[in-house]
Amino acid sequence: MSRLNVTETFHQITFPGHLHTQDSLRYAMDFQFQDTDTLIVTYPKSGTTWMQQVLTLLFSRGDPTLSHSIPNWARAPWLEQYYCPDVLKASLGPRIITTHLPYSLLAPALQGSKAKVIYVARNPKDVAVSYYHFHKMANFLPQAGCFGEFLDKFLDGTLHYGSWFDHVKGWTSQGRDKLNFFYITYEEMWQDMRGSIERISTFMQCPLLAEELNNVQRHCSFSCMKENAMVNYTQIPDEIMDHSKGSFMRKGKIGDWKTIFTEEQNCMFDQVFEAEMQSSKLNFIWEP
Ligand code: A3P
Repeated sequence: MSRLNVTETFHQITFPGHLHTQDSLRYAMDFQFQDTDTLIVTYPKSGTTWMQQVLTLLFSRGDPTLSHSIPNWARAPWLEQYYCPDVLKASLGPRIITTHLPYSLLAPALQGSKAKVIYVARNPKDVAVSYYHFHKMANFLPQAGCFGEFLDKFLDGTLHYGSWFDHVKGWTSQGRDKLNFFYITYEEMWQDMRGSIERISTFMQCPLLAEELNNVQRHCSFSCMKENAMVNYTQIPDEIMDHSKGSFMRKGKIGDWKTIFTEEQNCMFDQVFEAEMQSSKLNFIWEP
């Protein structure tokens, strides 16, 4: 399978070229899901790594051995990234798979599947800010430019992985009714981690004892994850992620957008949000 050093374009959406190829994207679209699979779906910067950690720890009943010895991408590989087939071949237990792909690209592969699908959404102002900072440290992403320019691209849907609006609307309006689907927000997890883990464990049909839940909660906390080299991406070399320019586990907060949005940017965002989301019943929490 060839690895390209250039940005891949697929169905009008661009992806980072060092991880995605035409072959890897086709592999994702043709993927044969098993009923025992769990698919984590997110737009980037919405709490993907967090959910990977929750599910790993739920499956291990709170035992942190796996989550402290195997990187997140090898425990819950991204379906569309070139290394996924190798990781899944080596997988022993029920598979946790991750994707940032829009619903339209995965709908045929998921049709009729009983695989569990967990969609994590985050308020898009914080997504945009988190994505902006990530662009500054991730050398495989295009130059972020100033925040205003970046925000325009976010609202236009021209960043890698496409439009946040299309992503959220596609999965929650079309996917939800057809799939074995669970929806949760970053903010719900942040405000009530214990209750969120319990809800996820119920959906996963994986009931845990109180002590086991305590352990899941502890190892999923921001402070623990920030120190855990298997999820904080410090293992990735500086040529790919320049850790002198920022941390992957950056702030982990609700409402950080307020530190960077100007009033004008906020008004423009609200207008686009209202127009794009008028048909959606989703509610977002914008501040703690
Ligand atoms: P910030 O950049 O706002 O800090 P993803 O994994 O989808 O790329 O999302 C990364 C974002 O989730 C980052 O947001 C990161 O700090 C945050 N995050 C990861 N683990 C978290 C946790 N346990 N608690 C709160 N936020 C977390």
